[in-house]
Amino acid sequence: MRSPLDTLSRPRFANHPLDIGDGASIPPGDTPAAIWPHDTDALITVIETRFHAVHRRELPDLVRLARQVEASHKAHPAAPPGLADLLQRIEWDLEAHMQKEEQGLFPSMRHDEPPAPAAIALMLDDHEEHAANLQRLVWLTGDFSIPENACPTWRALYAGARKLAGDLVEHIRIENDVLFPRFAAQPVPGP
Ligand SMILES: [Fe+2]
Ligand SMILES: [Fe+2]
Repeated sequence: MRSPLDTLSRPRFANHPLDIGDGASIPPGDTPAAIWPHDTDALITVIETRFHAVHRRELPDLVRLARQVEASHKAHPAAPPGLADLLQRIEWDLEAHMQKEEQGLFPSMRHDEPPAPAAIALMLDDHEEHAANLQRLVWLTGDFSIPENACPTWRALYAGARKLAGDLVEHIRIENDVLFPRFAAQPVPGP
């Protein structure tokens, strides 16, 4: 079965440079894995500060904006009914997931202790769920298409939701493709 993640890539959403802290940023487009810190502690710090903290800061505003747009433009043919509830669900799902990483997985990784493979598998499953939610977000917003006569709140909502999608895809990819493989079970050497 095709994973929801296969249909999502950062260049699909990101029309903004990605700020990775310390004054560094990378332009829109595919992010080469080599750009991320080789040191695992530093990589986890980037994930926590550049992705976890940013999702926590931005999602409550997006939920609020979506409630305003839904309430003010009920009759508009391009209005996105259910968008606020979807963003709220994304916020809650992400919060629960990030807490699992911050309280379980990341502390062991910082101590160079490989987490149980089942713990990583659980995170990968969560990531698939996040990607499925992003697919719903793309569908509900018509791929973030802003109607010509949209008010500033609607414009800010879709611009912010598009940024969230780009950030979340990059967040998932850095964990799936860069961080977690560092702790994948090593094959037992043969005789
Ligand atoms: Fe994370
Ligand atoms: Fe994660």
